Amino acid sequence: MNSGASTAVVKREQRGDILLVSIDNPPVNALGVAVRSGLLAAIEAADADPAVAAVVLVGAGRAFIGGADIREFGKPPMAPALPDVCNRIEACGKPVVAAIHGPALGGGLEVALAAHYRLALPAARMGLPEVQLGLLPGAGGTQRTPRLIGAQAALDLMLSGRHVDAAEALALGLVDRVGDGDPVEQGLAYARELVAAGAPVRLTRDAAALADREAQGAAIEAARLDTAKKSRGLFSPAKIVDAVQGALDLPFAEGLALERKLFLECLDSPQRAGLVHAFFAEREAAKSPETQSSRPRAIDSVGVVGGGTMGAGIAVAVLDAGLPVTMIERDEASLARGRANVEKVYAGLVAKQRMTADAKDAVMARWHGSTSYDALAEVDLVIEAVFEDMDVKKAVFAELDRVCKPGAVLATNTSYLDIDELAAAISRPQDVIGLHFFSPANIMKLLEIVVPAKVAPDVVATAFELAKKLRKTPVRAGVCDGFIGNRILAVYRQAADYMMEDGASPYQIDKAVRGFGYPIGPYQMSDLAGGDIGWATRKRRAATRDPRARYVQIADRLCERGWFGQKTGRGYYLYPDGARAGTPDPEVEAIVAAERERAGIAPRSFTDEEIMRRYMAAMVNEGANVVHQKIALRPLDVDVTFVHGYGFPRYRGGPMKYADMVGLPKILADIRAFAQEDPLFWKPSPLLVELVERGADFASLNKIG
Ligand code: 3HC
Ligand code: NAI
Repeated sequence: MNSGASTAVVKREQRGDILLVSIDNPPVNALGVAVRSGLLAAIEAADADPAVAAVVLVGAGRAFIGGADIREFGKPPMAPALPDVCNRIEACGKPVVAAIHGPALGGGLEVALAAHYRLALPAARMGLPEVQLGLLPGAGGTQRTPRLIGAQAALDLMLSGRHVDAAEALALGLVDRVGDGDPVEQGLAYARELVAAGAPVRLTRDAAALADREAQGAAIEAARLDTAKKSRGLFSPAKIVDAVQGALDLPFAEGLALERKLFLECLDSPQRAGLVHAFFAEREAAKSPETQSSRPRAIDSVGVVGGGTMGAGIAVAVLDAGLPVTMIERDEASLARGRANVEKVYAGLVAKQRMTADAKDAVMARWHGSTSYDALAEVDLVIEAVFEDMDVKKAVFAELDRVCKPGAVLATNTSYLDIDELAAAISRPQDVIGLHFFSPANIMKLLEIVVPAKVAPDVVATAFELAKKLRKTPVRAGVCDGFIGNRILAVYRQAADYMMEDGASPYQIDKAVRGFGYPIGPYQMSDLAGGDIGWATRKRRAATRDPRARYVQIADRLCERGWFGQKTGRGYYLYPDGARAGTPDPEVEAIVAAERERAGIAPRSFTDEEIMRRYMAAMVNEGANVVHQKIALRPLDVDVTFVHGYGFPRYRGGPMKYADMVGLPKILADIRAFAQEDPLFWKPSPLLVELVERGADFASLNKIG
């Protein structure tokens, strides 16, 4: 093969005495088998061709290389393997220059590190994000990076997965220079300069940043301790540290062998399967039939009605996206409070020196407030976040109908109310949609986009576009009581309450749920959110509750005492002197015991495993109902909802992915067994039954990956 032979995804072009090798594998130039073969062949050809003095690697399109092809994980390996390709690049007898103009991530950065010289352009983004997929850099990254930039900086990149820009990469020593302009021209110019200067090939494996063994060893030890503390339940971070230890202790080839062994362990782990599922599920959830069929309306200004917990958080999220916000409140005092709620967030950032006072002023200059709806006459989109009361919301929407310009999108942040009813009450139901944010709205990633029957498709597309602007993770949901997330939450919370009344303490349930990988358990969550919210909902539903259904009154007993959680100093836990972490409360345990007695229940013990089996069976079963009734488009939408809105451990992929991994027959068998005690609550979802009968799984309904 001569050096001019291109393949479909790796193009070769002789430019004078330089071989230009462009990776052209849209959308992100991932290193699938064809790219690996093409790269290998190009380097072999360059070595063999006397007309080639140097090689330049570039990426076509927006990326340099987005990493290994994630879709190949879990499938049989295909030669050439990426580590071999990287070694071959490094072994090239002629200088190889990587010209990086966009993302160079994971295997993409590893290719660049195997090259002899690196040039970054302003839009370059470099990182080793494998940890986010349950992996470690597996193509020499754990060995070359610390040799090049030292153990501490390398571990920081690998353990956080963060991306660095060109300037930081230069400061770290990850690249040799920063250029500006066309990547091909810049890369060629650099290569010519190197050839003219007779620059040698320079192997990253020979770089000396690990030379001070004692200091480097100390950095690794510090990272090991920190990882043990922070990487709750995650498998790959400790392996990353082990691999870097290998870089310090072992010759390069042995270090690579260790990296390979650890990489394969990670690749085989269920966490890798969960995290890769989450990666594709998030991207898939951001697409909906409406985003494919309709163009979004322009959104250049936003109104927010209500400046309480949610209104203020939503306003911050919108301001953070660079848009102006007009906030409406009931009266001047409430408006002042709303403004203060917004300002408090930025003041906190200034206090932590994460924002300058000037930047805060600049953001607040985009905040406008009014007690008159007329101030919303020109905005493109309004998000209502007033009290959770249908009549109050209808009154607000009547005002919006009166003042807003034609085509303005009218959104509600309601948690439970019927958005079809709200839309039907005004003259333009086609413009009404649900935008269900999660608290704190400027932090939590999930945005449920709730699609009522009469909404116009371009309004739905606009909501997805807004999510992108706000850097939220959108999920499309249908109208029902609680949409996807809160509807399923209500069911597994009920399962938890049954277990509490049957003998498990709320503290044991929280511990079991944390042991599963959640940051906090359901009763800690209730204390954080405020027990009064659930209390109001239970009262609202009391009239329509099935009289045969089991009803646990423990939460009501706490609320009757005014124990709403953190804000009142006690709930399920005690929070003495405003403490944020609660301590178990013997009085709560006594109330639980009294309630068991009142209900005539002889308490029994539960293992943590039994607790999680019931908890997850309830979650999965209701998840299946939500998909069956088309409230969620696919199981993956349930997964994304729970990972981004409810603290479900991302490394398990989401509840539906978890169910697939456990096996649907096993989940269904559990539900049927639990139904012996309470057939009303434990009704197998028709979708679950159908999938088990067909021998299928939830993944078959997702069509991703
Ligand atoms: N493999 C396969 N497909 C990939 C991919 C990859 N590495 N990276 C992105 N894609 C796909 C996405 O699934 C999406 O597909 P779709 O259009 O069908 O939904 C498409 O490319 C575009 O992706 P984004 O929507 O994320 O595009 P953005 O422009 O917003 O972001 C990006 C681009 C920054 C490259 C981002 O896609 C990203 O972060 N990708 C993952 C990077 C990564 O984790 N790389 C490490 C892989 S593991 C590895 O390299 C192992 C090695 O050490 C051996
Ligand atoms: P909140 O009580 O903190 O704030 C409501 C605000 O609306 C108050 O500041 C009040 O003055 C204002 N308001 C009431 N009537 C008004 C009117 N007619 N015109 C203008 N302003 C008016 O309530 P919160 O928690 O912010 O909830 C708001 C909405 O968001 C509710 O629908 C709730 O269900 C929903 N939601 C709440 C979440 C939470 O965790 N708190 C999460 C997701 C949604």
